[in-house]
Amino acid sequence: MKIAVPRERRPLETRVAATPDSVKKLKALGFDLIVETGAGVAASYPDADYVAAGASIAADAAAAYAEADIVFKVQRPTMAGEGELDEIALLKPGTCLIAQLRARTDKALLDALAAANVTAFALELIPRITRAQSMDVLSSQANLAGYKAVIDAAGTYGRAFPQMMTPAGTVTPARAFIMGVGVAGLQAIATARRLGAIVSATDVRPATREQVQSLGAKFVAVEDEEFRAAETAAGYAKEMSPEYRAKQAALVAEHIKLQDIVITTALIPGRKAPVLVTEDMVKSMKPGSVILDMAVAEGGNCPLSECGKTVIHHGVKIVGPANLAAGIATDASKLFASNLVHFITPLVDKETKLLKIDLADEVVKGSLVTRDGAIVHPSLVPAG
Ligand code: NAI
Repeated sequence: MKIAVPRERRPLETRVAATPDSVKKLKALGFDLIVETGAGVAASYPDADYVAAGASIAADAAAAYAEADIVFKVQRPTMAGEGELDEIALLKPGTCLIAQLRARTDKALLDALAAANVTAFALELIPRITRAQSMDVLSSQANLAGYKAVIDAAGTYGRAFPQMMTPAGTVTPARAFIMGVGVAGLQAIATARRLGAIVSATDVRPATREQVQSLGAKFVAVEDEEFRAAETAAGYAKEMSPEYRAKQAALVAEHIKLQDIVITTALIPGRKAPVLVTEDMVKSMKPGSVILDMAVAEGGNCPLSECGKTVIHHGVKIVGPANLAAGIATDASKLFASNLVHFITPLVDKETKLLKIDLADEVVKGSLVTRDGAIVHPSLVPAG
């Protein structure tokens, strides 16, 4: 079986779905690897390193796709009219595509993959069960994004994070407030603490209180009855009532005035991101403060943030990163590639070395979106 790794073609994407290290592991599983020339360059993995690991290099995307039984990608393939290339047209019928597909929102892509008779797995749909932790691209990428968010905020801030006592005077420590304490938020807390900031954090899920405190940060939240029931069985946040949101906003309004750095990460699966930092709150902040809105691509936690831009409103710098993980592409690719190795390993039949798609497997069933010309995921099959 041949796995192709094309160069990513979506704007700002610098990651790659296999690294020389993952190529070695995939070869040991019995696969042949074809890497499109230059696929790893933006993530600092040159062609020569893939060749040394045992891959062959394809001269262009068409050559890579033409030989593939399986295609590994970071982002969903481009369609006709999207960018430089119609990648869907290059996928042969029966090819297995494994990538992040935005399957819940990109219906046109799923229809195109089904029409092209592609067997597609959406990595973002892998169930977040213990056995699948090593395959979880959402976590591996969010963790690095949380780190990068703090580094970028620190680079944008015109002052220092740690306290410094110098003969010329004392530099006061930055106050950083992390809103939303999932995977990205936890890493943002840890990173801001390492840089010497005084860190506080908020979330609507009660389990986060202890996690925040164990990282040495202060927990700030409205802890009423609704808060105590705010976590779904899957471990995600529920959408909070207007009453809760009003209480939360009042508490946050008082706290945020004193903050220098605000990193927002709050998301609710399948919904627009909740607004947590209003324009009035921005107005109350000190000039030169920084808000970095990690939820900007899902509608934003601050209505003033703009995707892919840094804007200044009321003297506050508001950063709206379009793709934080791509800004730390070498490590992000390394973890992503490793997630893919862990994902494909149990799919390989040990005797035939072919892919065996077992729909009784929770991970397979949870992530397989198209097969045999149809959309097959239970939550995505069109009604009627
Ligand atoms: P996410 O990216 O969906 O959301 C980020 C954070 O925003 C969450 O902590 C959420 O509670 C918070 N949030 C939502 N609305 C908010 C509001 N109005 N105010 C303040 N905060 C708000 O979350 P992520 O990072 O995907 O993690 C979600 C859960 O999944 C966590 O409990 C995490 O520990 C768990 N998880 C489990 C894994 C496993 O067992 N394999 C792997 C990764 C995560």
